[in-house]
Amino acid sequence: MKLAGLTIASFFVSAAIYHVHSRSFFFLGHFQFYALFWCVWLAHAAGLLFYSVILWPKYLSPLRRLPEPTEGRSWWNGYGQRAFFGAKGEPVAQWNRSLRNDGIFRYLDVLNIERVAVTSPELVGQVLARIQDFEQSHNLFRLAMPILGPGIVLINGEEHKRQRKLLAPLLATKEIRKLDSIFWDKSLELLQKVTDVVSKTASATGFSEPICVDHYAGHVTLDGISKAALGVDFESLKNPDSAIVSNYRGVFEPTAIFRFIAVCKIFFPRWLSESIPLQRVKEAKRAIELIHNVCRTSATTKMRLNANKDLTTPDLISCLIRDRGVTDEEELVTHSMQMLGAGHETVGVGITWGVYEFCRQAQWQKDIRAEDAASKRLHVRVPALLAPVGQIGRMTAHDTVLHDQLIPKGTTIHVSIRSFNRNPVNWGADAGEFKPERWLRRDEVTGDLVYVPNGGALTKQALMTFIHGGRDCIGRVFARSEMLHVLATLIGRFEFVLTDLSYMDETTIPVSGAGFAYKPRDNIHVHARQISGW
Ligand code: HEM
Ligand SMILES: *[C@@H]1O[C@H](CO)[C@@H](O)[C@H](O)[C@H]1NC(C)=O
Repeated sequence: MKLAGLTIASFFVSAAIYHVHSRSFFFLGHFQFYALFWCVWLAHAAGLLFYSVILWPKYLSPLRRLPEPTEGRSWWNGYGQRAFFGAKGEPVAQWNRSLRNDGIFRYLDVLNIERVAVTSPELVGQVLARIQDFEQSHNLFRLAMPILGPGIVLINGEEHKRQRKLLAPLLATKEIRKLDSIFWDKSLELLQKVTDVVSKTASATGFSEPICVDHYAGHVTLDGISKAALGVDFESLKNPDSAIVSNYRGVFEPTAIFRFIAVCKIFFPRWLSESIPLQRVKEAKRAIELIHNVCRTSATTKMRLNANKDLTTPDLISCLIRDRGVTDEEELVTHSMQMLGAGHETVGVGITWGVYEFCRQAQWQKDIRAEDAASKRLHVRVPALLAPVGQIGRMTAHDTVLHDQLIPKGTTIHVSIRSFNRNPVNWGADAGEFKPERWLRRDEVTGDLVYVPNGGALTKQALMTFIHGGRDCIGRVFARSEMLHVLATLIGRFEFVLTDLSYMDETTIPVSGAGFAYKPRDNIHVHARQISGW
């Protein structure tokens, strides 16, 4: 839009200058006119850039009075380098420790674009509750909409409300129980895979060669979500190199060049960024079509079955067709894509960090084995896992006041989930430690272990893994159930130790800055040994 405005304005300005000088309106054929036009265009662009990179953030914006970090900041690119390539949620967590603030501060991102970080439980509560004022990020929409479609994760307003009402009940506790057999079957299949690797590669100590946890966690959760949400098993555990799995990867695990093109879409019109003549762009487009077709075929097959009252499967798309009367094919494709986008990598990363934490705390592996595999104790450990989503963004839908501060329309607000989950104000001085026993208390009378719902924290905002408010995660029961099944079976049969012992110190693990998930950049590798008796 800005680009078009700039060009049109430059055209008229050049035409006016040219007319004044040559007293002629026949300028379109003249070389001098084009030279003049480009000079005017460049001057305009430079002026705009100067305004938005220097004048606005440093001298004009109402946000310039907020506290802000300045150490090591680039004069024209803010903390762009760190914010773009670094682990999501970490910079804000660090600044909040070093910067005096009242629950809200500003920092400058790529090209000095302003961001607002909200850090007090009270203000975060407001940002997450006022979903009409603080909308899902429009940048996220532009990035992901061509892939996922106009669905619940990306959209705002009335249509978002309608879709949430439609989908949330299907992911409630009672409904998720019907999916347990899927999670259970998939966990057993994974167990068999790992057992094969262990028996083939075990050394004299019984421990296997290094096993990449991320790899298996990614496959078991892809099969889990595809079967439970779409009713189609992608069978990535069985066949990790199949056409469907590699196309899926092309769509949901984009390469660096594709991420670059995706970011271009924020600044340039879609037709321009999509017409980049690269083989990869074409391949990615084809991959998206292929995955959409898988979803569409599944939806039409189910609709046909439903017409004959033969649709009995428990997956979410079947429920939408059978119980909620959804008949629009494209809408079903969109819902399928949202579930894949929201419910695969998140759970996979949760399982990876879960195995990692069990490696760090060998005693917990023993504790769990001593109990019933699907015991309450493991169940209550799952919510405490390291947050797979490190940070979320919101965007002001109009000029908005928060905590007496005017926030202009279109400003991105960041909430660092990681900093909340480890905030000493809520969790005590040992906030940084993974301590599942926060969720357990021994009843003094009966001696039984009792579940402590909020993990002993002072406010609801203390645990933000699935966030809160009007757009909190509707898949949390699904996620917990799947993580519980996979982790319980793995820990039940195997003893795990980290391959790289330097990883025992969590702060040494490089974290991937790509994508939304907070995940280990170089994967987590473990040695596994089968426990006798299982
Ligand atoms: C451990 C795993 C998971 C984590 C950590 C997680 C976390 C989150 C977070 C932080 C959000 C808010 C995103 C935002 O507002 O920008 C969210 C939203 C959402 N999640 Fe999850 N999620 C997980 C698993 C799942 C699963 C398994 C499903 C589906 C089966 C799911 C479905 C959704 C949907 C549909 C939304 C959008 C809700 C809305 O905008 O109204 N999630 N999740
Ligand atoms: C950020 O810092 C403020 C001030 O020290 C503190 O009150 C708040 O709890 C912190 N928030 C987080 C999420 O760590």
